[in-house]
Amino acid sequence: MPINYDVIVIGGGPGGYIAAIRAAQLGFNTACIDEWKNSKGGPAPGGTCTNVGCIPSKALLQSSEHFEQAGHHFADHGIGLKDLTIDIAKMLGRKDTVVKQNNDGILYLFKKNKVTFFHGRGSFVASKDGVYEINVAGAASEVISGKHIIVATGSNARALPGAPFDEENILSNDGALRIPAVPKKLGVIGAGVIGLEMGSVWRRLGSDVTVLEGLPTFLGAVDEQIAKEAKKAFDKQGLKFEMGVKIGEIKNAKKGVSVAYTNAKGEAQTLDVDKLIISIGRTANTIGLNVDAVGLKLDERGMVIVDDDCKTNLPNVWAVGDVVRGPMLAHKAEEEGVAVAERIAGQHGHVNFNTVPWVIYTSPEIAWVGQNEQQLKAAGRAYRSGTFPFMANGRARALGDTTGMVKMLADAATDEILGVHIVGPFASELIAECVVAMEFRASSEDIARICHAHPSLSEATKEAALAVDKRTLNF
Ligand code: FAD
Ligand code: NAI
Repeated sequence: MPINYDVIVIGGGPGGYIAAIRAAQLGFNTACIDEWKNSKGGPAPGGTCTNVGCIPSKALLQSSEHFEQAGHHFADHGIGLKDLTIDIAKMLGRKDTVVKQNNDGILYLFKKNKVTFFHGRGSFVASKDGVYEINVAGAASEVISGKHIIVATGSNARALPGAPFDEENILSNDGALRIPAVPKKLGVIGAGVIGLEMGSVWRRLGSDVTVLEGLPTFLGAVDEQIAKEAKKAFDKQGLKFEMGVKIGEIKNAKKGVSVAYTNAKGEAQTLDVDKLIISIGRTANTIGLNVDAVGLKLDERGMVIVDDDCKTNLPNVWAVGDVVRGPMLAHKAEEEGVAVAERIAGQHGHVNFNTVPWVIYTSPEIAWVGQNEQQLKAAGRAYRSGTFPFMANGRARALGDTTGMVKMLADAATDEILGVHIVGPFASELIAECVVAMEFRASSEDIARICHAHPSLSEATKEAALAVDKRTLNF
């Protein structure tokens, strides 16, 4: 069997396109296959992240935040506005432009790095003598072959039984990003990352938003103190939460959706809304890969089984990103993509799961890295904790955004930083310093002794580090 490519990547999301670029940089003859279509049927590489995830959600979060600021906070600065309006079609159009810029950027990067791009669905055909045949079903059908295959086919929104997504009334992340007019009443099932981000967008634009969550605790994976602070802020903004519910029948009528549920007290309730977003997690996407043709093993949830190095059960077949274990985050997918390309080249690619940052782009933003207080307690680890509120930070006061705090956890004996948890302005940017510190196994004292610019929000991180040793200077 002739070999067309050294490396074939199936899937052009952040895991796949980055793996393809790195493989090409390392000198491999590389192809990337992606099936995502734009509204005109053309290629739209970038996966969930670029098309219906990270990028469009952040575009809408930005637009809606401007609207919220103009409507509720400009007056504090002495800025008056008459007849504030929002043109939803224009807002959605801007978001689509941002998405397209990213799609085009990836096509440009493929050209620049000499990655051959195929627009279509890739599926396994056969393997023989260490060569894999992959069918590409696009405008035409063709079979290509390669020595190394990287599966990066991502994930899809999980639906609730009996309530399929129609993207008109019952919305996945896809429909939630293109509601044509502000719904009067919006229901959200799942108070996770998507529920909070998309709920925030439409609440800021004027929707009456109710979030139904199955678990009794709010943001269970987040440090309890930080989650509590965030919940207080969301309650104040008018997001309504019902925790500990059990969802019953969901009726989708033309005019809206009716959700039957049992509340935490066991009482039967109904929520009637114009639109319903279901954001209860995501499932690995291996549909159409034809894994049986080569015997690629999946687990009971449909994820590709991999070891710590992203190796599958088949020689020279790798898998990265949302389709494998670990957090479903774009930057985690990218790191795995780079590491796999480097391993193929005989290098020692490495992903440190303990320093993968998480960010929830609500207002206030929530960001963290490493372990939280409940995890350290459960592990019986002796630690010291330092917190510093943004209320006592000069830059936060000048910004007019003093919600939240930075919390640092350090080992009681060695002072090594074990986790940092932030709720507040620009937490998404502040967390980067903490990730670097943890990668270098810094102590809280290291951060406390480093000069931070004044006035800046990063001084709150320094002060939280000082607080670990009970010696804050400004609080
Ligand atoms: P994907 O991005 O899902 O890409 C997989 C690609 O493979 C797709 O283009 C798909 O069409 C293609 N494909 C699948 N099967 C085939 C096949 N057989 N042949 C050819 N092509 C195929 N993460 C963050 O880190 N930060 C965020 O702010 C963030 N926001 C998000 C907001 C939303 C609303 C959602 C839904 C997700 C968000 N995520 C965020 C998660 C992030 O989008 C994913 O973790 C990331 O996209 C995973 O990358 P991936 O490459 O593994 O898969
Ligand atoms: P999620 O896992 O973050 O949250 C799902 C929520 O739904 C949980 O709180 C869960 O308890 C609840 N739930 C599950 N089943 C339920 C049911 N039957 N009834 C009621 N509640 C139920 O998943 P989400 O929000 O769908 O997002 C998927 C993933 O996408 C995230 O985990 C994250 O990895 C990624 N993402 C990342 C973002 C970021 O980095 N800023 C933004 C958006 C998504």
